[in-house]
Amino acid sequence: HNDVLTDTFGRRHTYLRISLTERCNLRCQYCMPEGGVSLTPNERLLSSEEILKLSELFVKEGITKIRLTGGEPLVRKDIVDIVAGLSYLRRYGLQSVAMSTNGITLARRLPELKEAGLDLLNISLDTLVPAKFEFVTRRKGWDKVMKGIDTALELGYSPVKVNCVVMRGINDDEICDFVALTEHKNIDIRFIEYMPFDGNKWNFKKMVPYQELVSVIKEKYPAFHRIPDQPNDTSKGYKVDGFQGQVGFITSMSEHFCSSCNRLRLTADGNLKVCLFGNAEVSLRDAVRGGSSDEELLSVISAAVSRKKKQHAGMFNLSKMKNRPMILIGDALLCN
Ligand code: GTP
Ligand code: 5AD
Ligand code: SF4
Repeated sequence: HNDVLTDTFGRRHTYLRISLTERCNLRCQYCMPEGGVSLTPNERLLSSEEILKLSELFVKEGITKIRLTGGEPLVRKDIVDIVAGLSYLRRYGLQSVAMSTNGITLARRLPELKEAGLDLLNISLDTLVPAKFEFVTRRKGWDKVMKGIDTALELGYSPVKVNCVVMRGINDDEICDFVALTEHKNIDIRFIEYMPFDGNKWNFKKMVPYQELVSVIKEKYPAFHRIPDQPNDTSKGYKVDGFQGQVGFITSMSEHFCSSCNRLRLTADGNLKVCLFGNAEVSLRDAVRGGSSDEELLSVISAAVSRKKKQHAGMFNLSKMKNRPMILIGDALLCN
């Protein structure tokens, strides 16, 4: 491969996160501003054909993993076609098709998604208490998410990654209960440090740093220990000796992992975003719709990648920085 996806700090980008929609059937406090967001009209979102065309281009340049995010990716009607279309790109070197979902409609949809080629699944769940779920997500559905997790385990996803955003005073009393879930199930619980985005009312006091979580867990489980990480992992891995599953910490705030970042993002409205916290974006949608050739698209992509910064600005600066609300980035799925 040539260097289109390598930045000026030598980071090779092999992982593309594609947001499929800005819509979501939940309203998580840390993701959606209270007043909601104004949605991009459908015709300004990437179509499945455009997503597959761009994905093919990226895969041919060295992307080996594509994760579908949102909003909630499962609200997209053509989701199964998109997964199948991406799966076809394995012949050009794609190795994994992944999804981050809130799990609400997963139990019903998973068999066909698996059949279409979905191989990795991350499910968000911030609490084991149904009433709290309603508070955090401003919607009902805790039992549906639990059923989604169980279905994923039954269908052989292993591990099933469960993402938990830790918020002080809200779910920080449930940390050990989450760890206990890993005893008999091949679940990888990942505690995520609460990150600031436009409109999410982040403040330092609500964020529980990773080291604090580790000490809480060690008190109850002295056999809790660090395990080796996969290269480019967002999470630092741990395990309780003898437990089937694992625990991870995504320390975007207290110990960022920018130096090993291998990710690029495509927003639902077709912008390439080279950093989750970066506000420099370039429209690949407009380039595609304007009739750009593959070479022209690659030069736009290459220029954007070469502008990628060394690391994000630090949590206090981030909390003041202009960025999209998480729901419009697509990590929220934004849960994403
Ligand atoms: P894996 O591919 O399974 O490692 O998943 P992931 O952690 O990359 O993705 P997921 O969608 O499960 O996101 C979990 C958390 O990691 C979310 O809070 C994301 O915002 C965060 N995250 C994902 N990618 C990045 C990144 O490039 N930088 C930072 N700082 N956080 C990220
Ligand atoms: N801070 C940390 N994680 C967040 N997510 C959404 N918003 C935030 C935030 N402000 C998480 C979702 C999902 C993942 C993709 O991103 O809970 O699990
Ligand atoms: Fe929806 Fe995920 Fe945002 Fe929650 S975090 S509102 S589930 S997109």
